[in-house]
Amino acid sequence: MVIGNYKLHCGVRESAALARGVLRGLRGGTHVPDVVLLPSFPALGEVRKVVARTHVLLGAQNLAPVAGGALTGEVSAAQLKDAGCAYVLVGHSERRRVLGETDTMVHDKLVIAYAASVTPILCVGEDAVARGAGQAQDVVAVQLTAALTGVTVQKSERVMIAYEPVWAIGTGDAATPGDVVAMHQHIRRVCKGLLGDRAVDVVYGGSVDGKNAYDFLRERDVDGVLVGSASVKLAEFLLIIAAAAEVMQAQDV
Ligand code: PGA
Repeated sequence: MVIGNYKLHCGVRESAALARGVLRGLRGGTHVPDVVLLPSFPALGEVRKVVARTHVLLGAQNLAPVAGGALTGEVSAAQLKDAGCAYVLVGHSERRRVLGETDTMVHDKLVIAYAASVTPILCVGEDAVARGAGQAQDVVAVQLTAALTGVTVQKSERVMIAYEPVWAIGTGDAATPGDVVAMHQHIRRVCKGLLGDRAVDVVYGGSVDGKNAYDFLRERDVDGVLVGSASVKLAEFLLIIAAAAEVMQAQDV
């Protein structure tokens, strides 16, 4: 799975043009990875038109911590569903750090997203201080526990976790595949304790680009990548998609 997080990097026309470019890049491929595009709210409508009736899915970068009602400026899960979103990011570190999103809000958003049948992609990850202190796994376990305790996930719904170490996001300093694999295995163990025996998809994000994508994606414990800066550079994003297709071919998926 390859997920493009456009953040605030592009407007409506550019987002739609990127989506068209992605579709062109996917055309004719024998192995086609799942691609999810997360444009900004104003661009959802135009990108939806581009990807309608294709293999590419639409998602949003955030949702309101309440199901509906009066909360000026927020966008509800039901509104996202209505706008064609299959996925929504929850708890991205930029929101936690810059906008003060708390564990409680992250938990509430998960519950609300599932209730509206929009699959949440829960973002977790340690900062540089925690990694330096050898506490990366503890921090991630605390985030997962706070977010997922008391959340009921139906069998038919997907559990998706994005491991995004804060120090790797937008820095060009990606984690090593070995560290990512170790953390993904840890995430699966913690999720098993919280949710029981069920499939959990774990994707990696943090300075993924055309050069390093293959090294992450080839790992069995890495179900996909969440891409920020490189997702708004079409040629780079297509290299990442090509790496995913190559892995699928090699693993005969
Ligand atoms: P990046 O961002 O690829 O620019 O590091 C990833 C993310 O924030 O999801």
